[in-house]
Amino acid sequence: MNKPKVIITRKWPEAAEAKAKELFDVQLNEDDHKMSVSELQDAMRNADAVCPTVSDFQITSEILGVANRKCKMLGNFGVGFNNIDTNAAKKAGVVVTNTPGVLTDCTADIAMTLLLMVARRAGEGERLVRNKKWDGWRPTHMLSTKVTGKKLGFVGFGRIAQAVAQRAHFGFGMELSFYDPYPPSTEVIKKFNAKQYNSVEEVIKTADFVTLHCPGGGSNTNLMNAERLGMMKKTAFLINTARGDVVDEPALVKALQTGVIAGAGLDVFAKEPTVTEALLSMENVVLFPHLGSATTETRVAMGLCALENVQAFFDGKEPPNRVA
Ligand code: DGY
Repeated sequence: MNKPKVIITRKWPEAAEAKAKELFDVQLNEDDHKMSVSELQDAMRNADAVCPTVSDFQITSEILGVANRKCKMLGNFGVGFNNIDTNAAKKAGVVVTNTPGVLTDCTADIAMTLLLMVARRAGEGERLVRNKKWDGWRPTHMLSTKVTGKKLGFVGFGRIAQAVAQRAHFGFGMELSFYDPYPPSTEVIKKFNAKQYNSVEEVIKTADFVTLHCPGGGSNTNLMNAERLGMMKKTAFLINTARGDVVDEPALVKALQTGVIAGAGLDVFAKEPTVTEALLSMENVVLFPHLGSATTETRVAMGLCALENVQAFFDGKEPPNRVA
């Protein structure tokens, strides 16, 4: 029997590509270019399944609606799947899966890295040393904000948020609060001694650090707008490892410039890879190039997870991580 044809839109780590070759008649993206809309349309015509990812052009009805589409399944490489118009996929009868679970710890590590770096002015300090501007230890040099024991507020309290909670509460003695329209079990809430609020506003008003863990797109677009940023404490920091569009970036820039909040740690941006020029020049922000899941272990696991979903689909089973 012929193997299903699978097109992978970006370069994957070697071990994951090797597994893809073993399982499927696979087309890789050797030079790792961003596929054009017309290349994605060709992929729809030529492959039984496509494995897209966050940095692709969004898979909309323009791509899914090509004449003679062969593709029946999108095995997304990533837990977030706002790069796929899932309504358009449903309408076209195309199954969509994602890769939850495997990137939880590494993304939580990056959230904590941002939190610690922005609070302790680590990026700024490193730039100082590298630029040979450090003039020695002084009692008043580069004073920053203590993390241990502070209040950490979560917008969204799913898997990744809980992994951050584990680190922050048990590692740094932080007091936790959260808002999530789909809250976890009472055991989880008790474990972290977390205060559950009924709105985003209640969380952000009281927190020293606000960390975002909700999906992007839809009603979460610009969730952290000027009004909500204005509700945060002047001394508070915003951490975003979720999706860039959850924060109104121009409003954030203004809030940082005018001292409405103290700083921000950002792993994601509204128009990646473009970063708002003003952010680049600010010392009170830490900026990462979407590193949440970027460890070899995790990226291999993400590829294998995407392949498991594709394989289940072609074996006639329900893919384990179906989202549409
Ligand atoms: C994820 O898995 O959602 C990462 O942000 C990459 O898409």
